[in-house]
Amino acid sequence: MVLLLRVLRLSILLSLSRWSLATESHPLYTQIPSLATFTPATGSAFEFSSDIDILVRRNHAFTGSPTAFDFAETFREDLLSIASFTHINPVSLSSAKSSSSREVIFINVDPRLNFTLFNGKPTNEGYKISINQTSITISASAPIGAWWGTRTLLQQLVVAVANGESLSLPAGEIIDSPGWEVRGFMLDAGRHWFDTTFLSELCAYASFFKLNELHLHASDNLWNPAFLYGEGNEGWKNLYAAFRFQPPPGSPLAGLVPRKNESWTQADFHTLQTNCARRGVTIIPEIDTPGHSLVINQWKPQLMVNGEPDHLNLSHPETIPTIKSIWDEFLPWFESSEVSIGADEYDAALANDYISFVNEMSDYIHTKSSKSIRIWGTNEPSTTMSVSKNITIQHWDFPGDDIPVELMASGYDVINSEQFFLYLDEKTSDGGQFPQELNQDLIWSGAPDGKGWAPNIFSPTDPTNNTSVDNPHLRGSIMALWCDWGNNATTKLEIYYQLSRSLAVFAEKAWAGSEVRETGLTRDQFDAVYPLLNAATPGQNLNRVVKVAKGNLVYNLSDPHLPFTTSIPSVGPPYTLTFNVKPSSRSPDTGILFSGIDSVLHVSNLTFEATGQLYSLGYTLSQDEYTHIAIHATRDYTYAVINGNSDARLYWTTLMDIWGDYMAVGNMSFAAPAQTIGGGAFSGSIKDVVLQLGE
Ligand SMILES: *[C@@H]1O[C@H](CO)[C@@H](O)[C@H](O)[C@H]1NC(C)=O
Ligand SMILES: *[C@@H]1O[C@H](CO)[C@@H](O)[C@H](O)[C@H]1NC(C)=O
Ligand SMILES: *[C@@H]1O[C@H](CO)[C@@H](O)[C@H](O)[C@H]1NC(C)=O
Ligand SMILES: *[C@@H]1O[C@H](CO)[C@@H](O)[C@H](O)[C@H]1NC(C)=O
Ligand SMILES: *[C@@H]1O[C@H](CO)[C@@H](O)[C@H](O)[C@H]1NC(C)=O
Ligand SMILES: *[C@@H]1O[C@H](CO)[C@@H](O)[C@H](O)[C@H]1NC(C)=O
Ligand SMILES: *[C@@H]1O[C@H](CO)[C@@H](O)[C@H](O)[C@H]1NC(C)=O
Ligand SMILES: *[C@@H]1O[C@H](CO)[C@@H](O)[C@H](O)[C@H]1NC(C)=O
Ligand SMILES: *[C@@H]1O[C@H](CO)[C@@H](O)[C@H](O)[C@H]1NC(C)=O
Ligand SMILES: *[C@@H]1O[C@H](CO)[C@@H](O)[C@H](O)[C@H]1NC(C)=O
Ligand SMILES: *[C@@H]1O[C@H](CO)[C@@H](O)[C@H](O)[C@H]1NC(C)=O
Repeated sequence: MVLLLRVLRLSILLSLSRWSLATESHPLYTQIPSLATFTPATGSAFEFSSDIDILVRRNHAFTGSPTAFDFAETFREDLLSIASFTHINPVSLSSAKSSSSREVIFINVDPRLNFTLFNGKPTNEGYKISINQTSITISASAPIGAWWGTRTLLQQLVVAVANGESLSLPAGEIIDSPGWEVRGFMLDAGRHWFDTTFLSELCAYASFFKLNELHLHASDNLWNPAFLYGEGNEGWKNLYAAFRFQPPPGSPLAGLVPRKNESWTQADFHTLQTNCARRGVTIIPEIDTPGHSLVINQWKPQLMVNGEPDHLNLSHPETIPTIKSIWDEFLPWFESSEVSIGADEYDAALANDYISFVNEMSDYIHTKSSKSIRIWGTNEPSTTMSVSKNITIQHWDFPGDDIPVELMASGYDVINSEQFFLYLDEKTSDGGQFPQELNQDLIWSGAPDGKGWAPNIFSPTDPTNNTSVDNPHLRGSIMALWCDWGNNATTKLEIYYQLSRSLAVFAEKAWAGSEVRETGLTRDQFDAVYPLLNAATPGQNLNRVVKVAKGNLVYNLSDPHLPFTTSIPSVGPPYTLTFNVKPSSRSPDTGILFSGIDSVLHVSNLTFEATGQLYSLGYTLSQDEYTHIAIHATRDYTYAVINGNSDARLYWTTLMDIWGDYMAVGNMSFAAPAQTIGGGAFSGSIKDVVLQLGE
C-alpha cells in the first residue's frame, strides 16, 4: 500500500511536470543480461501509467504456441505487479495503422525481421524496441522475441521502482538478440525429487534472465560402490533409484515407478511444460540409459551387465526393446523438439555396442516423433563406428570425453556444460569438488587470457580448447546442478538458493558472451543490479517473501486457539520464530507444532520435515513446564536456542553419504512453517508465538 501511494504520487507529479519541463528521463539502466545496443533519440521519455493500452498487431497475433497474444497477457500481469498498478486494460488487437489517444505498448510480430546469433545463423529470439513519448513498439520475427522484449521493459521498471525513479523509458531504440541459441540449466531430478510447482517457479525465475531451456535429468540412482558392486550383496536392490514419469494406470511399465509419490503424472508434466512455455522456457526431458540405469535393472534385473547393476546390457535381446517401450510411452508427453537420452559414463570396452545403440535411438526417436536427440559427451573409442552427426553432444568432461573443438571441427553440434565452470552438486561439505554457487571469479575472469567465461570457453588454462564465438557448431551452453547426495541432502528451496545468482550470471554470459559486445556487463554492474532483479522477478516467489505491516513482525499471537491457521503459507529465511510450548502429558511425543507449504516441525525430537525427509534435533520437550524455543534461520543453517541458553545452539543437520566413502554433516536451511500452529495429534499449549524477519 505504501509503495502504491508513492508510485501514484510520483506519476501525478510527472504528468504535471511533463509539459512544463519536457522531462529528461533517467538513462537506460543496466540489466541482466545486458542489451546489445541502445540508440538514444531526442524527444521526451515514455512514462508508464495504468492508463496505457497493450496492443498486439492483429497480423500474426495468434501464430505459434504460445502466441504473441498469450505472451502479451502474461506481460500485462507482470506489469501490474511490478509497477503496483491496480488496473491496466485487457490486451487487445490492433491493425498496422491503429492509433490510440492513450499511451500504447505495441507488440508486433513481423517474420520479415532478421536477427542473427554470433555465428550468423538466424534467431527468432531477437527483438527491437522503439520508444517515444507516446508509444513503445516491441518488434520481433516471432512471439518468443517479443516475449524477451517484454522482459527488457520490466527489468527497467524494476530498477526504476527500486531506485525511487520515475517509471519511464528514455526515447530511442533498443536492438537486442542472443549470441547463442541454447541458454539453459539442468537439474538432477533423478536423484532428488522435485514437484512440478517448484519447477514452474524455477522456469519463471530463469525466464526473467532470458534463459530458454530447463533440461530435466529425470532418471538416475545414487552411486555407492558397496551397494552396487559389493561381493555377493544385494544392496543394489535398495539403493535409491528413480524414474520420474509416472506410467498411466495399467501400463506394463508400472514396475518402473514403485514410488508414485515421487513422480509426475502426465497432467502434472503437461502443466509444467505449459507454465514454462508461457514464459519462454522449453523443458528438455532426459531419460538416461544405458548407464545410470539402476532403476530399470531394479525392475528387470535380467537386463543388467553382469556385476554392474547400474549398467544395461545392450546385447541382451530384451534391453533395447525395453528402452524403446519406455520412449514409446513418454515421447507423446514431450512438447520439445529435442530430448536427451543421457548416454553418459558407459563402459569404454563396449564402445561399438554403445555407438550403435545411440545411433539406433536417434533414428527411432526421430521416426516416432520427429524429435532429435542429445547425449552427454562420452569417451567410447571405436575404430569402426562413430556417433551420428545428427546428435548434439553436450560436453561436460576432459579428457575422457571427446575434445569439443575437435568434435565441432568434424561437424558435431556441441553444447558447453564443462564441469570446471558450470557444475554444482548440492551441498558438497566434503571439501567440495564443486562450489555452492557458480564461482564468480571464474565466470568473470577464469578464461585463459583473464577474460570472463562464455559458451565458447571450455578450459581455464588451455586456449587451444576454446573456440571462437562464431563457431557454427557451438549451439550454446547449459549449466548443471547435480544431486549426488540425494533427497535428504537439501530442500528444494536450498537448491534455488544455489541457482538464484548462478542463473543470472550464467544468463549474462550465455546471451552476451564475454567482451564480445561493448555493452557487456562488468562484475560491478552485475553485482549492483542483481539483488534488485532477484527481489522482483515476476511469476514466482522462491524467496518466500511476505509483506509485513510494520517493522519486521510477521505475526505475534499470544494465545492462539489450536490448531490456528494464518494467511501465510511459508516465510523464507532469514527469520526468527519464538514460542513457549508445553505438550500435555496425555500424548507428549506426538503431533505437529508448526506447518507450512515448505516445512513441518514435529514435536517428536523437534524434527523438521521437508518434502518427506526428516531432520531430527533429538530434543525432547518437557511435559511439566513451558519450554521457550527460538528458531533462527538463514539460507545456510537453522538452529534452536532453548530456554535462552544462547551458548548452546542446536543446529538441524543432515548426514550425507559421500560415494559410500564416508558420512558428511551439513547444515539445513528451512523456510518457516508459518501456516498452521498446532496440528495432527498435538495436545497441549503453544503460546507467545512471534515470527519476525531477520535471523
Ligand atoms: C532477411 O534476410 C533475408 C535472407 O537473408 C532477406 O532476403 C531479407 O530481405 C531480409 N529481411 C530484412 C527485413 O532485412
Ligand atoms: C511515436 O511513435 C509512433 C509509432 O512509430 C508514432 O505513431 C508516433 O507519431 C510517435 N510519436 C511521437 C510523439 O513522435
Ligand atoms: C549380456 O546378455 C547376453 C545375452 O543374454 C549374455 O550372453 C552376456 O553374457 C551378457 N553380458 C554381460 C556383460 O552381462
Ligand atoms: C540424420 O537424420 C536423417 C533423417 O532425419 C537421416 O536421413 C540421415 O541419414 C541421418 N544422418 C546421419 C549421419 O545419421
Ligand atoms: C585440451 O585438449 C587436449 C586435446 O586437444 C586435451 O588433451 C587436453 O586435456 C585439453 N586440456 C584441458 C585443460 O582440458
Ligand atoms: C579462445 O580461442 C579462440 C580461438 O582459438 C581465440 O580466438 C580466443 O582469443 C580465445 N579466447 C580466450 C578467452 O581464451
Ligand atoms: C507481542 O505482543 C506482546 C503483547 O501481546 C508484547 O508484549 C510483545 O512485545 C510483542 N512482541 C513483539 C516482538 O512485537
Ligand atoms: C514417498 O513415500 C516414501 C515411502 O513411504 C517416503 O519414504 C518418502 O519420503 C515419500 N516422499 C515424499 C516426497 O513425500
Ligand atoms: C528421537 O531421537 C532419538 C535419538 O536420536 C532416537 O533414538 C529416537 O528413536 C527418536 N524418537 C522418535 C520418536 O523418533
Ligand atoms: C540421508 O540418506 C542417506 C542415504 O543416502 C542416509 O545414509 C542418511 O542417514 C540420511 N540422512 C538423514 C539425516 O536422514
Ligand atoms: C553450521 O553452521 C554453523 C554457523 O555458521 C557453523 O558454525 C557450523 O560449523 C556449521 N556446521 C556444519 C556441519 O557445516
